[in-house]
Amino acid sequence: MNHLLLYCRPGFEKECAAEIRDLCEQRGIYGYCKLDEHSGYVLFVSHQPDGAELAVQQICFSELIFARQWLVCLPLIEDVDREDRIAILSQHLEQFPLCQELIVEPADTTEGRELQRFCNSFGSAFSQSLRKKGLLQKKALHRLHLFAISGDCFYLGYAAIDNSAPWPMGIMRLKFPKAAPSRSTLKLEEAWHWFIPQKDWHRYVSSGKRAVDLGAAPGGWTWQLVNQNMFVTAIDNGPMSPELMDSGQVTHLTEDAFTYQPAKRFDWMVCDIVDKPARVTQLMTEWLVQDWCRETIFNLKLPMKQRYIEVKQCLQQLQNSLSEAGIEYHIAAKHLYHDREEITVHVRVLNATD
Ligand SMILES: C[S@@+](CC[C@H](N)C(=O)[O-])C[C@H]1O[C@@H](n2cnc3c(N)ncnc32)[C@H](O)[C@@H]1O
Repeated sequence: MNHLLLYCRPGFEKECAAEIRDLCEQRGIYGYCKLDEHSGYVLFVSHQPDGAELAVQQICFSELIFARQWLVCLPLIEDVDREDRIAILSQHLEQFPLCQELIVEPADTTEGRELQRFCNSFGSAFSQSLRKKGLLQKKALHRLHLFAISGDCFYLGYAAIDNSAPWPMGIMRLKFPKAAPSRSTLKLEEAWHWFIPQKDWHRYVSSGKRAVDLGAAPGGWTWQLVNQNMFVTAIDNGPMSPELMDSGQVTHLTEDAFTYQPAKRFDWMVCDIVDKPARVTQLMTEWLVQDWCRETIFNLKLPMKQRYIEVKQCLQQLQNSLSEAGIEYHIAAKHLYHDREEITVHVRVLNATD
């Protein structure tokens, strides 16, 4: 198959398209993208008949910053007779690998949300029919996806379970913790879930660690760190939530994050400062090169037009500086569900001294 469907946050279709074209080209897979702005998805069409399959075999899903999900799919299936949808769609499955489950999902747009009830009810009817025919099997390595544009217009595709997002619409749903002082809190929680496998949390996101939060007020991110029983230095001229300060685990310093220098290395540095991406990248680089932290999660705000180019430049600059300083690192970046005009970056130093 040569069609690759990618879901993204509405408004970020151009970035999603630029990124997939770029990553495919690096692997000698050429093609073009079709997109409608604010549709919440992008279609990459490869010139090679198996281009989409090659892409998902050669690219790791975690390399993609702007895509929430990706599917190898058939071209758009239109005008599906509403009385006979299951039979018509089932006919196409001959070319598909065996799948474990079916997800029927809309785009993350206003029109898409209106289709959610249909997706739920049609999804359970279609799944039941596929199961009866033995077309969904527990041990299969793929997931079947039906992306609904309307009640009679669909993209039918599949994704490898170990190289795609596990959630419907590619969206990790998190409950807002009532005690947290700001909605931003969910950005850090989602970032941890996204970048750090649950089995490693006891090692990296754990009790007793020392963390610094640059641009901390009112304390949504600090709340997450405290919730993991860390001791937090919160840097911000603005006021921190009094309840959070009552925890006794937070030291608030009203300093400028761009000039603050720690006396001792932190386990974690997090940063949610609204500033130019290049300036924030420079600050993050300094923290890592100076060995002021072992691990960081930070946001790069992207109000500009050329967002993909800006992100690429910042990440390249950071990686060059770390390599020049002899630092071995793991880096990953994602446009998270709770991110708006920003992306989140995670860096872990692998050869930190004790
Ligand atoms: C988006 S808010 C952070 C929200 C916070 N992460 C939360 O979850 O509540 C950005 C914060 O960065 C702070 N800030 C901006 N420039 C700063 C600087 N140079 N030094 C310290 N804090 C700064 C602002 O005062 C603001 O409180």
